[in-house]
Amino acid sequence: MKSVLFVCLGNICRSPTAEGIFLQKVKELGLEDQFKIDSAGTSAHHVGEEADGRMQFHAGKRGYNLPSLARQFNPKTDFLNFDYIITMDDSNYRNVVADAHSEDDRNKVQKMTSFCKVHNITEVPDPYYRGEAGFEHVMDILEDACTELLAKLTE
Ligand code: 4NP
Repeated sequence: MKSVLFVCLGNICRSPTAEGIFLQKVKELGLEDQFKIDSAGTSAHHVGEEADGRMQFHAGKRGYNLPSLARQFNPKTDFLNFDYIITMDDSNYRNVVADAHSEDDRNKVQKMTSFCKVHNITEVPDPYYRGEAGFEHVMDILEDACTELLAKLTE
């Protein structure tokens, strides 16, 4: 079983979308029995909420479902339960790494953009205040990164 946790700030835009896209791609390969996939936010601000309606709309246009409800990243349990902890921006990366208990924990944390093949960028930008184009851009980046992440985990 491979376990992947996607992490952003609020867990209502970027990370639930990464989760939804990755899960869909895993299902297309018939590999859902081999993966545990989840997402979380470093902030508790939106805990229990559905993904942002704008994010659900832009994901839905490309055929992705975003059913997950926001939860906060839990350093105690998430470092135990996940092998790949994938952060969306530099702030998320720093916050999660700061919560690591060991070198092994730290090595689990990787940047989502490090998997991108088409986009040459270092962060998945927060779309919250960026309008429609921001959400489409996030979709493009996350599809790119999810494709390559799945290729890497199934090679
Ligand atoms: P996310 O986006 O981290 O991709 O879920 C955000 C959602 C909400 C806020 C910030 C980022 N906020 O400040 O409320």
